[in-house]
Amino acid sequence: MLPDAATRHELRLLAAARPALAALLVAGRRAVPLRRVPRLGWVSADPLVAREVLTDHRSFTLVAEGGVGHLWAQVLGDWVVEKFDGPGHHDLRTRARDLFTESSAARLVGGAWSDRLERARADLRAGPVDVAYLARVLVGRMLGTLLGLPVPDDAAARDLFATGERLAAIALGSAADTTLAPDAVARARDIVARLTAGVPDAWRAAGPDTLLGRCRELGLDLRETTGLAALLMVAGTETAASAMGRTVALLHDTGAQHRLLAEPDRLPDAVREGLRVTTPAPVIGRSVRRDVSVAGRRLRAGERILLLTWTADTAAGGFDLDRPYAPQTRQLWFGAGRHQCLGAALARAELSALLGVMTGDGRPWRVLHRAPARRCLIPTYRELTVTAAPGA
Ligand code: HEM
Repeated sequence: MLPDAATRHELRLLAAARPALAALLVAGRRAVPLRRVPRLGWVSADPLVAREVLTDHRSFTLVAEGGVGHLWAQVLGDWVVEKFDGPGHHDLRTRARDLFTESSAARLVGGAWSDRLERARADLRAGPVDVAYLARVLVGRMLGTLLGLPVPDDAAARDLFATGERLAAIALGSAADTTLAPDAVARARDIVARLTAGVPDAWRAAGPDTLLGRCRELGLDLRETTGLAALLMVAGTETAASAMGRTVALLHDTGAQHRLLAEPDRLPDAVREGLRVTTPAPVIGRSVRRDVSVAGRRLRAGERILLLTWTADTAAGGFDLDRPYAPQTRQLWFGAGRHQCLGAALARAELSALLGVMTGDGRPWRVLHRAPARRCLIPTYRELTVTAAPGA
């Protein structure tokens, strides 16, 4: 059966980001429960296997070759190993637990975005709006707020977003090898130093109502706070902007926007479905720490496993506001186990806020022009220009 228009647009985004990634994610439908693929290692698109791997911290790690922590240890320093995966991680997560609750996330979005969202609402009433650009500006503003950096206007927000993007791009090509070349390490360190330049002052002086001030109150020292800030920047930048643009497109392409406009209380369903169908972090890698059996196969210490979360999450079908909660995938788009996304509540609040603007006037929107971003880590729209229908 041919894919529908919404799925075709999504597949095009994946292919534009990285053709090899798109091929892996689609062919990966056969990697259930688990397959060994030359050069890549073990691959699985089975949500139950993914959960088993992500919650078995004794057998799998993200700080050895094959995991994202391995990348960051090279950039931030060896202390990351203990803080990302050792006992220090448990301690850090326990203390950081209340950084992004539902209510603190809503406060953060209100504080960082309300005036810009107001303007977006007016822009949408007046004519076409590039939602992909808007998402980058909004996320850039959030980054400034989280990092204690000034963001006086859209240009500054966009630049901040682009700097976060450049940092993430250094991880490009790490699917088969997470060892960075020395010049990549130097570039990444330079970007981290620039982006976290505001952290020491904010950590010392900011009030407890700010993220960095709260880090201090929670007992995170300056190095931990700087490391966490760098992590937020990478983990929460492109992922959030990708989900925002793509969900607006999906609501349009599937026609579900009409339903949402008629039933605004379905907003949380639109957010959940948007995150499921886009799964902005489409693959999660782990390194096998010790010999272990998974789904009847024997995995050996030192091997790697790629969990195709996009493939697992989208196996149920396309965007559908009526799709019930799926217990087997749960919120796999945010990972699982002890590294499950720390910013999940913030990501949901960000997406809700944008969809609130899109639906606020009760008018459906039309996509006038769209273009995918090319050669990037997270599949996303470079441009998504929409216009609201007149009247209503
Ligand atoms: C739609 C948006 C987002 C998606 C899909 C997403 C997805 C994920 C996933 C899959 C992981 C687990 C990675 C792994 O296990 O290797 C993760 C971890 C993380 N995310 Fe997110 N994320 C999003 C937004 C955010 C935001 C907005 C922030 C904060 C500003 C954030 C902060 C983090 C952090 C700090 C971690 C590492 C947690 C740890 O290792 O303990 N994320 N995210």
